Amino acid sequence: MRLDKYISNSGYATRSEVKKLLKSGIVTVNGEISKKADLHIDEHCDTVKINGTEITYNKYVYLMLNKPKGFISATEDKKYRVVTELVDERYRHYNVFPVGRLDIDTEGLLILSNDGGFAHNLTSPKKNVYKKYFAVLDKDAEDKDIEEFEKGMEFDDFKAKSAILTITDKKNEVYIEIAEGKFHQVKRMCKRVGKEVLYLKRVSIGGLELDENLPLGRMRELTKDELESIFA
Ligand code: URA
Repeated sequence: MRLDKYISNSGYATRSEVKKLLKSGIVTVNGEISKKADLHIDEHCDTVKINGTEITYNKYVYLMLNKPKGFISATEDKKYRVVTELVDERYRHYNVFPVGRLDIDTEGLLILSNDGGFAHNLTSPKKNVYKKYFAVLDKDAEDKDIEEFEKGMEFDDFKAKSAILTITDKKNEVYIEIAEGKFHQVKRMCKRVGKEVLYLKRVSIGGLELDENLPLGRMRELTKDELESIFA
């Protein structure tokens, strides 16, 4: 692949920054300074360094977004703003898409990636990756609701597997863990036990928790450990 693509896919710099880096003569390929954007790089044998530090090419990227309300989980839409608008410039060329869906009025953890295989695994109900939500309800949750969630619920279009409802000290604030991610699933399950969801936020996917230091509307790359924790 071209040297400029190799550098921008290392996450080191945006495409426009790459041009400047090359011009400034701090990029070396196998020890030789290179200023040629179209120099052919073999990712398996060549060593590319910037300011003496080796960089590595990443075909795929995995981003954690703290999704705000008002954005839909899509890459384009005529009417609404889409979550990919919130992707930093330096990751734009990866053409990421949302892995799974959060409703327009739901906040919290959304993964964006360009890895189709990963997306398939994460959204497949067979993989049993539990997603955990924090919800504020219009009424207090009751102990009998816990059993209803645990039994699973039959809907016209699908059968929700056993889910976990945890009631907090404020009884209308709950945590809900579900194995699937069907359209409006949490809201529909709550409705089944007679409650409306007033606020919904996803807080974790498998072993991956939303970074509470990540402000709403901001994203960052997942660490290797975080990525592995999803299916752990
Ligand atoms: N369930 C819902 O009802 N909405 C979401 O956004 C996610 C899960």
